[in-house]
Amino acid sequence: MNCIDLRSDTVTRPSEGMRKAMYQAEVGDDVYCEDPTVRRLEETMAGLSGHESALFASSGTMGNLVSLLTHCGRGDAAILGAESHILFFEGGGLAAFGGILPLVADDATGLPDAAQVAAHCRPSNVHVAPARLLCVENTHNRRGGNASSPEELAGLVRVARGKGLAVHMDGARVFNAAAAWNVPLETFTKQVDSVQICLSKGLGAPVGSVICSSREFIDRARHWRKKVGGGLRQVGVLAAAGLYAIEHNAARMAEDHANAARIGEILRDGGLDVQSVRKPTNMVYFAVKNAPELASRCAGLGVLFSPADEGRVRLVTHLDVSAADAVKAAECIVREARRAG
Ligand SMILES: Cc1ncc(COP(=O)(O)O)c(C=O)c1O
Repeated sequence: MNCIDLRSDTVTRPSEGMRKAMYQAEVGDDVYCEDPTVRRLEETMAGLSGHESALFASSGTMGNLVSLLTHCGRGDAAILGAESHILFFEGGGLAAFGGILPLVADDATGLPDAAQVAAHCRPSNVHVAPARLLCVENTHNRRGGNASSPEELAGLVRVARGKGLAVHMDGARVFNAAAAWNVPLETFTKQVDSVQICLSKGLGAPVGSVICSSREFIDRARHWRKKVGGGLRQVGVLAAAGLYAIEHNAARMAEDHANAARIGEILRDGGLDVQSVRKPTNMVYFAVKNAPELASRCAGLGVLFSPADEGRVRLVTHLDVSAADAVKAAECIVREARRAG
């Protein structure tokens, strides 16, 4: 059966063109900084993000972890959104490896609440773990894929800097945010001290993430990447996929957003309770009584998606979901949700 897979934008498979680029990649030992394709990817991402330097990492989780370890020492605190991926889905790596204390701020609107961020920055004394870092996520996965605006981000960054915090962006899907607001990537990424950007989400590469920041930060991050086992050797074969993705897939993200919007419309017209999002991107969340049961009924019909919680479903569009697939999948979900009552 040919499935329409809406579980995540991580499920894409490399195209023929991408595989050819991987096959032909010029490589060297990247631990010796001798892989020309990795260097080209890092230079490209530094340029696009408006930062001095960049570092390839194996995954978004590693990109975030290495960034947090570079920003914070043991016993330092990092402020995180309550539903952020770093807090929710990365195994507590910041605490396990870094001894970093997470301080939680409400992020119902997408970004951590500015007043709560400020309140976490308490005057220094022996009782207080010093807050060093604010983490933001754009787009925000568990907040409906919402893309916060450049202005909202600027306001929060101002508050953070006023409190002496550095700012790290989990930009796993910041290309989606740039597409949603129709602005260059650096409009978002230049505002923060460090950003990790995934190549393996909407961009459609099989593996990889890039951390972008100052040269000094990236030099220190390289040490942390080595310590966590992320120093890879002839990794140009993967960097080539990332370069191909940036060149061929970054410009088409608006299609994924349009397909997600069409799915949302069909579900709403079909009477489903679709979460409204201020600036939607490639995700649709809707409430349903028994999400796992609906997921399993639809899977039997070739439409795959993930229950986000017991009563909430997430659908994600990506480059392997066509406009026709989006309509077909949405119609199937409406039909099956009606059948299930
Ligand atoms: C917002 C966000 N950050 C980070 C990650 C982690 O990326 P990876 O799965 O490559 O570790 C994800 C993965 O889905 C994500 O959605």
